[in-house]
Amino acid sequence: MRQSLVIANWKLNGDLALLDSMMNGLSSQTGYVADVVICPPAVYLAAMQQRSLATATDSFKLHVGAQNCSEHTQGAFTGELAPQMLREVGCEYVILGHSERRNLYAETDALIAQKVATAQQQQLKVVLCVGESLEQREQGQTLDVVTAQIAAVLAADVDASQLIIAYEPVWAIGTGKTATPEQAQEVHAAIRQFLNQHSGVGEHIALLYGGSVKADNAAVLFAQPDIDGGLIGGASLDVEQFRAICSAV
Ligand code: G3H
Repeated sequence: MRQSLVIANWKLNGDLALLDSMMNGLSSQTGYVADVVICPPAVYLAAMQQRSLATATDSFKLHVGAQNCSEHTQGAFTGELAPQMLREVGCEYVILGHSERRNLYAETDALIAQKVATAQQQQLKVVLCVGESLEQREQGQTLDVVTAQIAAVLAADVDASQLIIAYEPVWAIGTGKTATPEQAQEVHAAIRQFLNQHSGVGEHIALLYGGSVKADNAAVLFAQPDIDGGLIGGASLDVEQFRAICSAV
C-alpha cells in the first residue's frame, strides 16, 4: 500500500504563533489517514520538532520537513543548509525542485539531481516537485516536461524507490486555478507509468498534487486513483482549511 501524505509548504510565511496554533489545531483532531508534514521556514524547524515531540501520541505525530537544502554536506557555502543539519534538528522530509526554486533561483535539473542525491545520502525523504508552465501545457508539452524533470533526477545516483513526487502545474500555484481532477489524474498516471518503465517503482511511490488545493477541492482531487495526497501552499497557513485538507485524504 502506498503512503498517503499531506505536506504544508509555508514558503516565506508564518511565525512561531502560527506554528503553535497549527500544531495545537492539528493534534486536537486525530484519525488522519495521511501522514501530515509541515515545512516551515528553516529558522522554525527546531522549534517545530520540539512541538512535534510534545504533541505526539502513540497514534499521531506531525512530521517536520524543510523547503530546500544544499547539494553540499559542508564547506564555504554562505547561507546554505546541509541535509545532515536538517536531520539533526528533526527534519525527515525535504522539498526539492519546487518551481519557485527553479524559476526564481535558477535551479537547474542538474543541480536538483545533485541535491536529491545528497539529501538521500543523509536519509532525508525527498519530495521532488515537477510541473509545466501554462505555455508548455498549451503547446501540448506537459508530459514531456514532467518526465524530463524526473528523468534528470533518475539519471543521478538516487534511490528512485524512496522518492515522493509532487506534480505541481506552475499555472496552478498560488493562482486559484486548480487543475481539474481529470487533468491532474492524467499526469499522475503518466508519471506512474514512466516510473514503472524506468525504475519499476511506479506502483510504490507516493504521488502528490499541488496547486491551489483548498478545503473545498481537496477531496475530489485526492479521490483520483493515482493521487496519494497533496502539497499545499496558501491553504496550509490557515488552521481550519489545512485541517480539512488533511482530513480529505
Ligand atoms: O508548494 C506548494 C505549492 O506551490 C502550491 O501552492 O497551494 O498556494 O497554490 P498553493
